[in-house]
Amino acid sequence: MKIAQFSRIGFIMAAAGSAVGLGNIWKFPYMTGEYGGGAFVLVYLITIAFVGFSVMVAEMLIGALGRKDTVGSFERLAPPDKKGWKYAGFMGFNGLIIMTFYSVVIGWIFYYLFKLSSALPTSTETAKATFDNLVANEPGVQIFWHTVATLIVTYIVYRGIKGGIEKINLILMPALMMILFGMLFYAFSLDGFSKAFSFMFEPDWSKLNSEAIVRAVGHSFFTLSLGMGAIMTYAASLPKHTSITQTAFIVTFMDTLIALVAGLVIYTFLFQEGAPAAQGPGLVFISLPVVLSNFGYIGTFLALLFFLALSFAGLTSAVSLVEPVVQYIIDRFDTTRLKAVLIAGSAYYIVGIGALLSYTKAWGETFSIAGKPLFDILEYTTDSILLPLGGLLIAVFVGYVLQKERVRSALAHEMGDRYFAVWRFSIRYVAPIALVFMMLNLMGVLKI
Ligand code: PHE
Repeated sequence: MKIAQFSRIGFIMAAAGSAVGLGNIWKFPYMTGEYGGGAFVLVYLITIAFVGFSVMVAEMLIGALGRKDTVGSFERLAPPDKKGWKYAGFMGFNGLIIMTFYSVVIGWIFYYLFKLSSALPTSTETAKATFDNLVANEPGVQIFWHTVATLIVTYIVYRGIKGGIEKINLILMPALMMILFGMLFYAFSLDGFSKAFSFMFEPDWSKLNSEAIVRAVGHSFFTLSLGMGAIMTYAASLPKHTSITQTAFIVTFMDTLIALVAGLVIYTFLFQEGAPAAQGPGLVFISLPVVLSNFGYIGTFLALLFFLALSFAGLTSAVSLVEPVVQYIIDRFDTTRLKAVLIAGSAYYIVGIGALLSYTKAWGETFSIAGKPLFDILEYTTDSILLPLGGLLIAVFVGYVLQKERVRSALAHEMGDRYFAVWRFSIRYVAPIALVFMMLNLMGVLKI
């Protein structure tokens, strides 16, 4: 089956749309708050620059050379005696695991879009009660919005690379950037901005522990959409004669910029009202609306824009989480896109219901394992174990298994010989060592 091709700008927007997601606007800001600010941000930035970017190039390369679904690309590129590498392609299935909870969170965002347009909560107690009540006592409401999210995402994927994914990204990504940069300009004018700036960019090393490092490294993979074949699958539709290096750079840059802007905006509003930084996953759902309620009408407007941007970011990432498995099913079983979407969609949809139930009072225990809610298990396993593992496989495959000459002929003319050598060093040594180190640390954090 021949895969459709993106336009060049379509590819950049789709890959950036995949990277820029809830990870940037919801997760990165609250993790920064939980792990103490600047030091966490610095570890994250260093990992992006020295590991994330190189792995992004490597993952795009596999897709661009392989031109198939993830399993097919690994299989096609592996030398004849190493065809077992095709199993690495099953990293594409990580996307469905992520989707189980990602879709639930997009559902929360939709719910908030409706809820907040009437009135913002004016005290933390009521805001917390609203969020806690939704999560703990309203499985029906959550299932409803999880269903809406699933229908939208699967419909876009069903429309395919050109008519669905490229189109939606070309509209939603510029809209998202306009909203966030607009909010940044507004934030500039507030006193909270300088506090937010120092919180995010002045490292306090005493706050950095091994858990923070593990989370920062794991998150840098999550936020760049690496290690699960999303970028690889899109790159199979990369228009010919497009520079992989340049595209990877633009995508990495946009992703990082948007995370930092989101963090600055949220912390400016928070510090403007003297709210504390460490709030956990409820940050944008609890503290932000309350803080914005003090801004009067502008506050309601800002809250709506913010949740709109968040939902755009979520949707454009979600389609990239589903597409790899859909592509795999189409390629392998020679079936229609509709069937593939129905299979992939229902798989994550059903487990997603389990994930949301695991936070409810009534069903929490049934959907927990060893006292941990299914939601947390799914999230932790993907972002701290499976994505770094996928990243490691990509680095080893491109650094050691693919013939050097093949890699060189694809990249050296884009990078020049010197940068090619630096990149290759990074993919052969820096990335694998950092990832193995991170996984060992993780075992320490998990006390295995
Ligand atoms: N990068 C997305 C985010 O930051 C999540 C994602 C991970 C998307 C892996 C695709 C693949 O929210």
